Parts: sequence; C-alpha cells; structure tokens
Amino acid sequence: MTTLSFRSFMKEHKVMVETELVKQVERLSAPQRLKDSMIYSLEAGGKRIRPLLVFAVLDAFNKSTKIGLQAACSIEMIHTYSLIHDDLPAMDDDDIRRGKPTNHIVFGEANAILAGDALLTQSFSILTQMEDSSVTAEQKLAVIKEISQCAGAEGMVGGQTADMQAEGKQISLEQLEYIHEHKTGKLLTCSVLTGAILAGANEEQKAALTSFSRHLGLAFQIRDDILDIEGNEETIGKPVGSDISNHKNTYPSLLTLKGAKEKLRAEINKAISSLKSLNLKDEQLMSITNLVASRNN
Ligand code: IPE
Ligand code: IPE
Ligand code: MG
Ligand code: MG
Ligand code: MG
Repeated sequence: MTTLSFRSFMKEHKVMVETELVKQVERLSAPQRLKDSMIYSLEAGGKRIRPLLVFAVLDAFNKSTKIGLQAACSIEMIHTYSLIHDDLPAMDDDDIRRGKPTNHIVFGEANAILAGDALLTQSFSILTQMEDSSVTAEQKLAVIKEISQCAGAEGMVGGQTADMQAEGKQISLEQLEYIHEHKTGKLLTCSVLTGAILAGANEEQKAALTSFSRHLGLAFQIRDDILDIEGNEETIGKPVGSDISNHKNTYPSLLTLKGAKEKLRAEINKAISSLKSLNLKDEQLMSITNLVASRNN
C-alpha cells in the first residue's frame, strides 16, 4: 500500500468526515432551527484532529480507513457539543469559536444547549450505523463502551466540571493534570483507541497506544493553554486571553510560559517514544503528533 502525504491524507479524510457529519444531521426529522444550529457548529471548521486520529490508527494497521467513518463522526459530534457548551455564558462565556460567532450568540442560549444535547445523542445513534462486514459485534460494543466512558463523567464531562470548580483557586500540578487529561485528553485517547479496536489491535498494542494518546492529549491542551496567551485571535479562531479573564488554572499559570513549553516538549517526546515502540506504519500518526506540538490554531 502506498503512503499518502499527510497533506493529502488530511484533506481526503476531512472531506469524508465533513460530508458525513452534515448528512447525518440533514436526514433527521427535527425542527429546522435545531438542525440549523447543529450544522452551524459542525460546519464552522475545525482541525478534525479526533477523526484524523481514528483514521491514522487504522492506516497504521493497514486497514481501510472507511470502517472508522461512523466512529470518527461520532467523536467529532461529541467534541463539537463540548465546544458549544464550553462557550456558554455559564461556562467560559466566549463569543468566537472556529472564527465565527459562537452558537449561543447566533441561536440563543436555549438553542445552543439543545444543539449540544442533540449532537451528543446523535453521536451514539451514528454508532449503530457501523455496518461494514469486517467489524464484529464485539468490536462495535467495545467502541461504544470506549466512547461513552471517555465522553461522560469519567472523561470529558468530569474534566470540565473539575476545570470549572478550580476557577480562581490555587490547585496542584497533579490536579491540573487530572483536568487536562479529562477535559481534553480523554476524547483524544478515545479516538486512538477506537481506531485500535476497529483495527483489531492486541492488548499490548492497545496499551502502547493508550500511553501515546495520553501524552498526546496532555500536550494538546498544554499547547491550547499556550495559544490562549501567545496566539493570534484570527488564527486560533477563538478569543485570546479567555483563560486569564476566567481565572483558569493552566500550565502557563502554574509553570510559567517557559515551563509550559518545556512540559509540552516532554509530553510530545513521551508520545513519540510510545508510538515508536509499536513498530507500526506510523507516518500519519507522527505527522499528527508534530502538528499537535507546533500548531498555531
Ligand atoms: C478545542 O479543541 C478545545 C480543546 C479541547 C482544547 P480543538 O483545538 O481540537 O478545536 P477545533 O475542533 O479545531 O475547533
Ligand atoms: C475545553 O478547554 C475543553 C473542552 C472540553 C471543550 P478550553 O476551554 O481551554 O477550550 P477552548 O480554549 O475554549 O477551545
Ligand atoms: Mg473551558
Ligand atoms: Mg473554553
Ligand atoms: Mg483553551
């Protein structure tokens, strides 16, 4: 099998997932305003890192990436719902997301909450559409278990709760790590492990991929914290300085900007060594890792 350049891999799979996301909402028989607000946030852009991770793991195992399409859409819907709710006045109260006014600014708070609810629910409905004959019932159940755990109280929602509770308080580095690993890391881990489950990875491979994704997830949020200070609003597509105005605990606030950058590098190096221990065809996963390390948006 020939290896696509990362640019082509990214482009091809972004189109695949973006087309399917819109299709999944358009076909719903539901109030048009609800569908409009769901599609508004889904179509607003975004790097699609989580879907790309699902596809890149499948690619690393020489599997067809198509078998990950529903799971990739499911995770991206959960991620998009988490962003809509994260931006609400009761949470981070931000007005710009993916370079456009946030969902509640355009559709109002009630609609934004409901669009998030509907995206979360639809994300599990999509998983029932995993129909490729090479995917077994056991694999489907394992994917559902993985995604539900990573999205809920033990995952992203737990992390978001801890993030809100820590606002304005002094917390330890250990507590900050819990927040970052959960609010952000879990959905990245779940993307990698979903790919691994669908690829038929063995337990040893799954353990190494879990380690890879945990370091990658932490690195991803450290970079996000850095961009909240050093980023350019137009490039990151969301407000700069949101963390400071919300009195958030972040890696730069606990370790200084320099310390946060060192920690980012250390986590990226650990992610790379976990990945290399696998001896897979890891070009796309390596490119995603490098993107996470140096991204400007
Ligand atoms: C933003 O995630 C929220 C975090 C978890 C840091 P992304 O940086 O992946 O946002 P999009 O999807 O590209 O907009
Ligand atoms: C949020 O972290 C992670 C989510 C679960 C949405 P942030 O609050 O730092 O994300 P941004 O900076 O608003 O994208
Ligand atoms: Mg937040
Ligand atoms: Mg936020
Ligand atoms: Mg942030």
